[in-house]
Amino acid sequence: MPSFGRILGVSCFYHDAAVASLDDGRITFAIHEERLSRCKHDAALPRLAIRAALAHNGWSAKDVDRVVFYEDPSLKLRRLEDQVKRFWPESRFLQEVGIPGYLANKFTVAQQLQDEFGFRDVVCGNHHTSHAAATFHTSPFENALVLTLDGVGESESAAVFVGEGNSLRRVLSINFPDSLGLFYSVFTQYLGFEVNEGEYKVMGLAPYGKPKLIDRILNHVLILEEDGTFRLNLDFFNFCDIERHYRDRLIAHLDVPPRSATDPMTQAHCDLAASVQLALEKAVCNLLGAMLLRYPTKDVCLAGGVALNCTANARLIRDFGIRLHIHPAAGDAGGALGAALHEAARHAPPGRLLRPDFTPYLGVSFSPAQIEQQLGERGAAWRREGDVAAWVARRLAAGEVVAIVHGRDEWGPRALGARSILADPRRAEMKDHLNAKIKFREEFRPFAPVIMEQYYGEYFETLGMTESPYMLFTHRALRPDAVAAVVHADQTSRVQTVNAQQNAYLYDILREFYALTGVPVLINTSFNLRGEPIVSSPADALKTFHASGIDCLAIEDYVIEKA
Ligand SMILES: [Fe+2]
Repeated sequence: MPSFGRILGVSCFYHDAAVASLDDGRITFAIHEERLSRCKHDAALPRLAIRAALAHNGWSAKDVDRVVFYEDPSLKLRRLEDQVKRFWPESRFLQEVGIPGYLANKFTVAQQLQDEFGFRDVVCGNHHTSHAAATFHTSPFENALVLTLDGVGESESAAVFVGEGNSLRRVLSINFPDSLGLFYSVFTQYLGFEVNEGEYKVMGLAPYGKPKLIDRILNHVLILEEDGTFRLNLDFFNFCDIERHYRDRLIAHLDVPPRSATDPMTQAHCDLAASVQLALEKAVCNLLGAMLLRYPTKDVCLAGGVALNCTANARLIRDFGIRLHIHPAAGDAGGALGAALHEAARHAPPGRLLRPDFTPYLGVSFSPAQIEQQLGERGAAWRREGDVAAWVARRLAAGEVVAIVHGRDEWGPRALGARSILADPRRAEMKDHLNAKIKFREEFRPFAPVIMEQYYGEYFETLGMTESPYMLFTHRALRPDAVAAVVHADQTSRVQTVNAQQNAYLYDILREFYALTGVPVLINTSFNLRGEPIVSSPADALKTFHASGIDCLAIEDYVIEKA
């Protein structure tokens, strides 16, 4: 029978390097390099992830039919050269340092993959096509409208595709420097957070403010066109300055001082965050609205870093009544999977539709022997629990904070119950306790709930969805007093629903917690310390456990408690 082949997708050299593998159209493995290298946002050639993917599949490099890099380095070089010409002399640094660095590194990625690993065939994809394929081919839709929105790919910052069966037809492109991702990132920097890391913080801060500056931003800073497209007013931005992407003119225009990382957060900063968030939502709605007029459908897929904005995602459903699919690694890491999926779809055997079963649990897992070895080497006192889900639930109901390692790592930036810290959501104080003892993060950032799928509609506005399994939408809390620790300032929560098929272990913990407390909800936050990647191995888990105020650790059925 004809096959989709054995394909490896790779993304790297910008941020969040990752690898994904497909075997005859099945997604067999996917992981972010940072989980293995322990370097947050590791962008390097993902050597560890490639080796892990080959080992998981039992492949040698020669067994891989084709390796696909997630974007086209030649197209990107052309954009950088255009940027030098267009913005000279502000672009001097880009010409003298940026482009030579690019030529020495990313430009030769295909050769590096061949030389280092001996792959037979390495090709380059297209950045926004990779984003689009990652969401479209993991969706439940045979046909859909597909929007991709990010900072910048090769030169595109947004694209719209009509997805039909195995094909993606590009119907709109918007190019750098007009970019919603860059717009949001500039204000992430303006508010004193790190670009490509602090965007969640802007979203988390927004509910504490009022969008008082929206009229100064929309159609002055970010211009929305009637055809759905958008532009940035370059009087306010300077993307050639690697230190600071905004000009003094923006500060004067907004009349809000930029904040450094250590400055106090003022009400004016909160109002700016609210205004930027609203402007982003209006821009995305303007684009989708125009596209739905041209290509009417109820089924929409979204991808790119902007698709991680849960508040904007929920608004799209509310405003347009669409069914919206977003795959959990919506950012550039997900491009590794998308590149592989697009390559498979292009060479699809006749009559076969590429819609693989999708689970986010795609990384590495550990056998009892491996767990015992790693714990033993570190002198950990462990014992095995017969019913570990019930044991975890009892500890949680008693107010303790429990970290779990179960099965294969999650794919994407959110912990979804494979490498998670769990806690009781009933009292608001738990949020402060987690922040002070474990996560060491800003107090305005919300914690997310995981809920048994059948109770989803009792506790949260469902947005018409039967499930919300990846924490990609904010849902209005219907019983905020019952789960106070997971409700944000605007009375919403970034929900993960779970059923027994998706994650039987997490579901069992919830079921046991519900039996003890009458509440089918837990706090689910990523198992990492501030500034570190989410843990992957038992050794990582043990290290983080001892460096934090987590009370108990359950690595599969091996449980460890603080002395
Ligand atoms: Fe991207």
